[in-house]
Amino acid sequence: MNDNIRKAADVIRRSQHMISLTGAGISTESGIPDFRSTGGLWEKYDPSIYASIETFHHNPEKVWQMIFDMLELTSGAVPNPGHRALARLEAMGLLKAIITQNIDNLHQEAGSERVIEYHGNASRLECLACGREYEVAGFPVQEKVPPRCGDCGKILKPSVVFFGEMIPHEALSRSQLLAEQADVVMVVGTSAVVYPAAGIPIVAKRNGAAIIEFNVSETDFTRSITDIFIQGKAGETLPVLLDQLAE
Ligand code: APR
Repeated sequence: MNDNIRKAADVIRRSQHMISLTGAGISTESGIPDFRSTGGLWEKYDPSIYASIETFHHNPEKVWQMIFDMLELTSGAVPNPGHRALARLEAMGLLKAIITQNIDNLHQEAGSERVIEYHGNASRLECLACGREYEVAGFPVQEKVPPRCGDCGKILKPSVVFFGEMIPHEALSRSQLLAEQADVVMVVGTSAVVYPAAGIPIVAKRNGAAIIEFNVSETDFTRSITDIFIQGKAGETLPVLLDQLAE
């Protein structure tokens, strides 16, 4: 691991347009299970049912069963050393932006300022009928009653991207531009199986970027587009990288 971290530090020192794509793996050390590892959320909830916009339209109460569970997991979570290391890289001027698939707000809470919420953010709610927006903190979600719009009474939807929904236009276009301009992409804690997010490092690679992957196990990227694979928990490997960069 340390030899690859030294190589990664050399590449990062020379970078001018480094970005990071993060996934649920960077938050597991904050106590939030990821989706596809053993014990992940998709073992408990079939995403084709619980995370589909179709189900939300026909049976929002069913989807809220999973959302209450996720909110319970994220409400007590705090940023871990992995999130803080990425915030430090931004403060050092080395990391230009984070494109995160996560909806847990932990990058922002760790101090990262340029965060693109590719799949939205679970701390916000929206009314699909009248478009009004709300903060989830304004509702007693611990009572497990799906929150309703104050204007039209409809059950509110978390401002996250469900399967069958489009990525928010601004997130999509900003991410595409960043991917085209990137000279390094740090891919952290993602299984790289969900598109279009997983296409971001591929676009960057096609434009000559170096791909540095941080994961506890290999992914589809590891043997294809990854240039440097740093195996281990992101909460441990990213701080070691920071130490190398500080040398
Ligand atoms: N450090 C580094 N990597 C980790 C850690 C850790 N501590 N813990 C888990 N991982 C890795 C796993 O090995 C896996 O490759 O993180 C990855 C998590 O993959 P997924 O559970 O598939 O999560 P993610 O890639 O974010 O999923 C993408 O799928 O279901 C949708 O919308 C959901 O945004 C999510 C998208």
